Amino acid sequence: MKNYKKFWKLGVKELNTEIFDINKSDELIIREGNYQYPVMDLIKKFGTPLEVALPFFIEKRLNDLFDIFNYYLKFYHYNGRFFYHYPMKVNQNKEFVLPIISEGGQIEVSSANELWLVKKLWEQDQFNTKIRVICNAPKTTAYLGLISDLRSRGLHVLPVIEDEEELAYFKKTPTTDLGIRTDIERKVQSRWDKKFNRFGFSPNEILNIGAIKNLKMLHYHIGSQITQVQDLVYLLKEAMQLFIKLKEKNPGLDIIDIGGGFPISYDKKKNYPVERVVKGIVRHLSKITAKAKINPPDIVAEWGRYLVAPAQITIFKVIRQKNIAQGMAKKWFIIDGSFINDLSDTWALHQRWHIVPVNNMRVKKLERVWLAGLSCDSDDKYTEGGSYILLPSLNEQELDKNQYLAVFDTGAYQDSLSSHHCLLSSPAKVIAQNGILTLVRKHESPEEIGKQFGW
Ligand SMILES: Cc1ncc(COP(=O)(O)O)c(C=O)c1O
Repeated sequence: MKNYKKFWKLGVKELNTEIFDINKSDELIIREGNYQYPVMDLIKKFGTPLEVALPFFIEKRLNDLFDIFNYYLKFYHYNGRFFYHYPMKVNQNKEFVLPIISEGGQIEVSSANELWLVKKLWEQDQFNTKIRVICNAPKTTAYLGLISDLRSRGLHVLPVIEDEEELAYFKKTPTTDLGIRTDIERKVQSRWDKKFNRFGFSPNEILNIGAIKNLKMLHYHIGSQITQVQDLVYLLKEAMQLFIKLKEKNPGLDIIDIGGGFPISYDKKKNYPVERVVKGIVRHLSKITAKAKINPPDIVAEWGRYLVAPAQITIFKVIRQKNIAQGMAKKWFIIDGSFINDLSDTWALHQRWHIVPVNNMRVKKLERVWLAGLSCDSDDKYTEGGSYILLPSLNEQELDKNQYLAVFDTGAYQDSLSSHHCLLSSPAKVIAQNGILTLVRKHESPEEIGKQFGW
């Protein structure tokens, strides 16, 4: 008998599917310690399309990351500390941000509005003033104003200088800690074509600035979904050459912020283990700083996708099927949501997804299918890069005709990019935590969605 758990790639740590399993009814379940969430029960209760957010998985992933860094800091007798800063842009939803700060994560924001969320949390006594907030991205007047405001109220806000104007601004504005962003000139395999980089300063530009009062942190971010392990580790070497030179004129510089970029295995291929990368980072930093005879800097990582993508799944129902006369796939399955609206990176970045059936998981007859969204847009589709997705065949007599699909790893970026093409409603959203289900977003009614368009 076929090992279906293996076939659907469930229970595999390297694929971030260790919390998923199949129950006796051939259906997908999510495990949280002693609790179990049968996904079909969630569907019966809340309907589809449905997002299921799993904050307990974020907490586990963050604690594991702290343990791994702390292990290697000790192993190499490294004299600096590790800080995780959650890039809020990856998912600003409360159920994602709160578990991170409660488990010891710090924050990185990219806009005045994200910083405003920090202010709101702080005013509600949900944000400890010791949590450091790194402020990245170009800063509008409102953003700069909020930075000053929060600093004057005792929050630990660390702005990162992006350009000449910000440099001039922070020179004349009394500040404590400052960071500066460099653009390392090295091409890496990621989603970002560095020909068009517009962030930060080149290493030479930074060195020509000389001393920057209160400079504490050097930051770089080289791209998202970086597929080569050596890129993550060896870029650090290049950044450290600049760090060492910069420290000569800025002795207070003592944090290296390596940005985001750790990839997710959307394509179901096993990634390099995070332990290997962390080990490489700490080992290289130890060697480089010992050779340069400087104190090892504190390490900041902003791995956003890595932390939160696996903590959400999106569920759709197959509502129609259509034959395909010619193609790698034999059938279109039309779902009750939209790739363009609900999983926008499918369309924007041709992102692959790990998709499994929620029911009929042990069915023997599988079919090669392409998936189509509910909008009338020809781009609203998922074809696994022109190949096909294997899913239960809906022709079998004994098969439960209501077929549901789960898309894994949808916790990063998709929510804030989502839209309303064809005026479709967003999926409902439920949080599963401590064995309790909480509906946090209902299915939008035509009235609610019409309102957003002035009706
Ligand atoms: C400055 C910065 N830090 C961190 C991130 C998070 O990247 P990732 O989710 O790939 O780890 C981004 C993403 O664009 C970013 O711009």
